[in-house]
This record gives sequence, structure tokens and C-alpha cells, in this order.
Amino acid sequence: MDKVTRFGVSLEPALLKKFDGLLKRKGYASRSEAVRDLVRQALNEEGISSPKGNVVGTLTLLYDHDASHLSDRMTHLQHEYHQLISSTTHIHIDHHRCLEVLVVSGKASQIRKMADSIRALKGVLQGELVMASAKGV
Ligand code: NI
Repeated sequence: MDKVTRFGVSLEPALLKKFDGLLKRKGYASRSEAVRDLVRQALNEEGISSPKGNVVGTLTLLYDHDASHLSDRMTHLQHEYHQLISSTTHIHIDHHRCLEVLVVSGKASQIRKMADSIRALKGVLQGELVMASAKGV
């Protein structure tokens, strides 16, 4: 392993407890190992290949359709980025919540911008973007 640098992380006790639970469930040997994976994951989402590289992926959204004008805004944004969206699947989970999965392809930077705009809408409870290089790794 390359030389490593240690750094301190401050967390509220409740958050640390949840983090330790996550480590246990996922089978990490140490907090350092888990933090390394989280950092890699974040960097991967942020900088996958080059910003101009073509990627394929999914944006999985959980949202409350009763939030003010969310359905209209969601549809409007998806039309704005229609060239990046190959398909969408919408599932009505209960009276209020919807699960929507967008299959996306295009330039990583544009897909990230679209995902950020959609995730910023009021009423979007979760939004996870997964991208993979279209060229293969
Ligand atoms: Ni729905």
C-alpha cells in the first residue's frame, strides 16, 4: 500500500452509531476501510472518466408527489433534459410517495447537472445517481 495519511473525523455520537451499524452490516474490518470506500464512491460519481466522457447509468428517485407542484416541475425538468433520458419507470409506492428510475446516457457532466437539478426540487426525498463509463472500464 502507498504511504497513507491519517486525519481526524468528528461526528455526532448518533451518527457514529449509525455508521458503525453500517460497517457491521457491510462487513468492513475498520472505520478507515469504510471511509476509503465512501471517498472512492463520491470521487467516482464526481469525476468518472472525464467530464466530457460518455456514460450510461440510472438516477433513482424517491419523492413525495404532494409537495408543491413537484410533479409539474419534475416533468418539466425531464423534458428539458430529454436527450439524456432513455427511459423512465414510475411506481406509486403509497398515497404520497413515488419511486422513479431514469435510465440515462450522455456526457457525465450534463447527467450530473440534470441529477443535481432534480435532486434539488422540494419534495425529492432521495436521489441516487449511478454512472458507468459507456466505453467499458
Ligand atoms: Ni406516483
